[in-house]
Amino acid sequence: MATPRFIQLHQEDSAALRLELARGLSASPAMVSPKFLYDALGSRLFDAITELPEYYPTRTERAIFDVHAAAMAACIGPGRTMIDLGAGSCEKAARLFGVMQPARYVAVDISVDYLRQALDSLQRQHPRIEMLGVGADFSSSLVLPPEAGRGERLLFYPGSSIGNFTPEQALRLLRQVRDVGGAGGALLIGIDLVKDRSVLERAYDDPLQVTAAFNLNLLRRLDTLLGCDARVEDFSHVALFNERDSRIEMHLQARRDVTLRWPGGERRLAEGERIHTENSYKYTVEGFDRLLREAGFTRTACWTDPQRWFAVFVAS
Ligand SMILES: C[S@@+](CC[C@H](N)C(=O)[O-])C[C@H]1O[C@@H](n2cnc3c(N)ncnc32)[C@H](O)[C@@H]1O
Repeated sequence: MATPRFIQLHQEDSAALRLELARGLSASPAMVSPKFLYDALGSRLFDAITELPEYYPTRTERAIFDVHAAAMAACIGPGRTMIDLGAGSCEKAARLFGVMQPARYVAVDISVDYLRQALDSLQRQHPRIEMLGVGADFSSSLVLPPEAGRGERLLFYPGSSIGNFTPEQALRLLRQVRDVGGAGGALLIGIDLVKDRSVLERAYDDPLQVTAAFNLNLLRRLDTLLGCDARVEDFSHVALFNERDSRIEMHLQARRDVTLRWPGGERRLAEGERIHTENSYKYTVEGFDRLLREAGFTRTACWTDPQRWFAVFVAS
């Protein structure tokens, strides 16, 4: 049985990424894109987070699919090319293969080594579905290689990963998703909804400290990618709900005065100062529906769980 094709559009050691990191660390306040949280270890730690009782998004989204996937599939139709944005372990798409019946599967992720492994194993389980892996960073633009094919497309973007972008960036990405979907394209997307602060903050600051490890792993990435001498022991994980902007924020907070040095730059952080590492925006159903329409989707349908903690939209 063939292994899936893999196309690499993303180079981790590029000068552009090093510049992006150095600029972010030098900014006030210091900030680093959440895309840097994901290397092979970061992806494994994220998968561990999804197993935590406090991390409701994965199991709530799964429960919505368990009940409503057939209705969603009826809106979407079979035989499409299913394009999984930020596929990670590819598990969510795989659970839907039976009901969505895609003709082919294209998995896109920045965490290239992890994606390769996940896709190889998935292809062994589903030898009849043609699969393609694409190592890409779609944070500034979403571009697919011609090998993704021209059949009718279903863009799949679960896990509320779109929440990592500001609403303005999310709008830009959704417009690109609409363009990549082309005529007859459909989008299946999972969105985390606004809820009680305590539920939100526990989900991003679990007592087992798996999320802390996920966040702190960024310091090791700074070493690998930028040659920066950041020490994990010098920082602690902070997660808080910023109600004004309707987003969970993750930060790395200096435990003492720290100077980060890398070739060509340095950043001093006083004790208590933070590096902002992730946003996770929380929407209302109405607010996200408006965003989809602003992005050019004219037909939308939405399913939620009984507590209205999470929503899955189909848009075309
Ligand atoms: C929150 S995880 C979600 C994983 C999986 N889709 C799920 O719902 O459980 C986000 C995924 O998107 C990937 N990712 C993050 N930023 C990305 C970017 N800029 N370009 C491509 N993939 C990205 C990560 O590597 C990770 O696999």
